[in-house]
Amino acid sequence: DFRQVQDTTGEGLRLFDAGFVNTAVARSRITEIDGAKGILRYRGYPIEQLSEKSTFLEVAYLLIYGELPSKNQFDDFEYEVMHHTYVHVKLAELEQSFQYDAHPMGMFIATMAAASTFDPSGNPALAGSDIYTKDKKLRNKQIFRILGKVTTIAAMAYRHRIGRPANPPQQGLSYTENFLYMMDHLSEPGFRPHPVLARALDVLFILHADHELNCSTAAMRHIGSSLVDPYSAVAGAAAALYGPLHGGANEAVVRMLESIGTVDKIPAFIESVKRREKKLMGFGHRIYTSYDPRATIIRKLAYDVFEVVGTEPLIEVAQALEQVALTDEYFTSRKLYPNVDFYSGLIYKAMGFPLDYFPVLFAIPRVAGWLAHWSEAMDEPNAKIWRPRQIYCGEARRDYVPIEHRD
Ligand code: ACO
Repeated sequence: DFRQVQDTTGEGLRLFDAGFVNTAVARSRITEIDGAKGILRYRGYPIEQLSEKSTFLEVAYLLIYGELPSKNQFDDFEYEVMHHTYVHVKLAELEQSFQYDAHPMGMFIATMAAASTFDPSGNPALAGSDIYTKDKKLRNKQIFRILGKVTTIAAMAYRHRIGRPANPPQQGLSYTENFLYMMDHLSEPGFRPHPVLARALDVLFILHADHELNCSTAAMRHIGSSLVDPYSAVAGAAAALYGPLHGGANEAVVRMLESIGTVDKIPAFIESVKRREKKLMGFGHRIYTSYDPRATIIRKLAYDVFEVVGTEPLIEVAQALEQVALTDEYFTSRKLYPNVDFYSGLIYKAMGFPLDYFPVLFAIPRVAGWLAHWSEAMDEPNAKIWRPRQIYCGEARRDYVPIEHRD
């Protein structure tokens, strides 16, 4: 649906591009994707190298500031982020006020939005509309605060869910280890998560950290273009991520695999997809017309995790489903390949995270990408508020009819 439409308002031609299939709305130096070749690079570095050699926090620095940090730069960054992991006690109380079995993404979004009310100095409505475009120090402070608090807010949602008190953040652990510490049922001083599991989650965080203008990052830039504070913009971006066509897909994949159950049920499931009664969740991507490079890395990673925690039986169904889809004309002709979500949910499940927590595990690292895009947008000299146009297809002018005269 990409075509030019004659504008009737006299303002000239207007492009109709439903779903922004072909419209570029920002210039960015952060992430490069070649969807046909299955290439993904952050700031020029191939995702394969970063996922093998780097850490999530280093990748967050790279995304936000554009270069890999020196040792001193990394130490300072880590210190700032880790010392901003603490949250106001009232924010913790707010999160505990939700229904215990509410979806954790709902708790996460609402608590992140509420975090703006605990930081009035960062409110552009009070401090001036240009504070974030002008004051890089304040911008950085918000980056440290949000990157730090996101894991605490996420872990608190889980602890509330299982009826246990929150574990306070621990210094001296890596970003991902501290998150696992706060999540763990029995966390106590000296506890360290299993190194293979901590590394696997760190790699998953690297792979999910950014993906240029996906739905949630576009939402972050869109909301940020109003110059609102970044907590509110992150909450809005997280809401976009919550949807099953985006970050909610990892949860939906496992629910789908559970509903299929066994390999012998796959043909019937595939037929129902072809009849358009169902979608093959974790397949397809707006940009990738070949294998999503993140899916290749995650599939391998799954086996590292299974060696520690035992094999997740649904992996058999997933692999058989993938084999069928990769050879079936319905999927090959539409260039539908596994995306990042197809195998990630199985790792999360094997590690013991509850199903509805999976989108939160996507949101935590994507915050780094959102903040990188937000900061880049704040530096754009001729930035404008985002305001797409529509093609009005409704009624022409008509006069109000009092209710007693309506048919
Ligand atoms: N299962 C079955 N058919 C599919 C799927 C799927 N997962 N995805 C696309 N198709 C089909 C469509 O029905 C359409 O067929 P048609 O041309 O005969 O009508 C064709 O492939 C093109 O699909 P679109 O919906 O136009 O592709 P779009 O780019 O708009 O959507 C999306 C991309 C949302 C990712 C889609 O592939 C989808 O819904 N996938 C399942 C959900 C999912 O895994 N989301 C995670 C995406 S990655 C991420 O957010 C991290």
